[in-house]
Amino acid sequence: MPAVTIQLIAEDPNTLARAGLLTTPHGEVPTPAFMPVGTQATVKGVTVDQLKQLGASMILGNTYHLGLRPGHELIRSLGGLHRFSGWDGPILTDSGGFQIFSLAQLTKITEHGATFKSHIDGRAIELTPEHSIDIQESLGSDVAMVLDHVIALPNEPAVIEDAMQRSIRWAKRCLEHATREDQARFAIVQGGLDPELRRQCAQEMSKEDFEGFAIGGLSVGEPPAEMYKTIEATVPYLPKAKPRYLMGVGTPIDLVEAIARGVDMFDCVMPTRNGRNALAFTATGAMKLRNAKFREDARPLEEDCPCPACRHSRAYLRHLFVVGEMLGPILLSIHNLTFYQRLVREARNHIQAGTYSTFLDQQRRIWTPVTQ
Ligand code: GUN
Ligand code: ZN
Repeated sequence: MPAVTIQLIAEDPNTLARAGLLTTPHGEVPTPAFMPVGTQATVKGVTVDQLKQLGASMILGNTYHLGLRPGHELIRSLGGLHRFSGWDGPILTDSGGFQIFSLAQLTKITEHGATFKSHIDGRAIELTPEHSIDIQESLGSDVAMVLDHVIALPNEPAVIEDAMQRSIRWAKRCLEHATREDQARFAIVQGGLDPELRRQCAQEMSKEDFEGFAIGGLSVGEPPAEMYKTIEATVPYLPKAKPRYLMGVGTPIDLVEAIARGVDMFDCVMPTRNGRNALAFTATGAMKLRNAKFREDARPLEEDCPCPACRHSRAYLRHLFVVGEMLGPILLSIHNLTFYQRLVREARNHIQAGTYSTFLDQQRRIWTPVTQ
């Protein structure tokens, strides 16, 4: 019996959007789902009770960070990542592939694995597909991601294909090395913006016994239209009966566009990172709270938002940022995560009602920048 399964509940008649229910060893996740990012065994500024309250059902953790500090042996000896963090719901851990690409220094990739210097203390470290799986098995997440070779875009076609082929070989090594039956393994499709490479990679990965499939290597600076086309080139070659996860994405409209193209799961630092920087997402667009126009604004961020930030005025929230009080970043992180959870919930409701394309049109109007 696989550790993680998806039951499809509804499919939109006019798009590829689908609503499902993911079952994991630590509970169920309605999809489409947005996973708040808890890199360091904490979603920055938000308690686990608040995460539950705002509607998150699954969160993400990072092999790279937790393997370096406090170390996966320590977390295992303290009962695993669920016990350590206090989050008893589903957890997905990323493999380290993307963090080696984005954070590590002096990275060298060989067929065996990646060697790099830690961004914390400069220590030389090697991460192989097997080691990434060992760390994730110690953490005890519900879903382990395979170690992949992530590269910058744009790049030479030969470099993109080489990294894609290596990602396939590494994914197979991860699968062969894994031992935990209460943990699922998700493959990661790479291949840059080349539809042919994406198709090839998706087909190769789909032959293997993965419990879910991710689309990686996107949202690295390419125009949104290119990202959407790449999703379209990948999804048709993934098994319909398994979950699909778009890694590191994205803006509200990115989520809505990707859901229309058949994606079930997302993670992104955007709601929390932007929240810490005084940017609030609302149903009418983004709001820069430091702006002087909010100085005397008595309204909440959103009239109908049930979050604790929306018990206050915009003027109060702005004041917290202006004077540098820590409650500002906390409240805005909670509001933005609430906004993302409400967005995917609304998407799910529209899929179940068969009206996703109407919702998609509405969302496109909200998030299209007005040029004057
Ligand atoms: N997070 C965002 N993009 C990626 C990716 O391509 N690979 C991995 N492992 N994590 C990601
Ligand atoms: Zn709110």
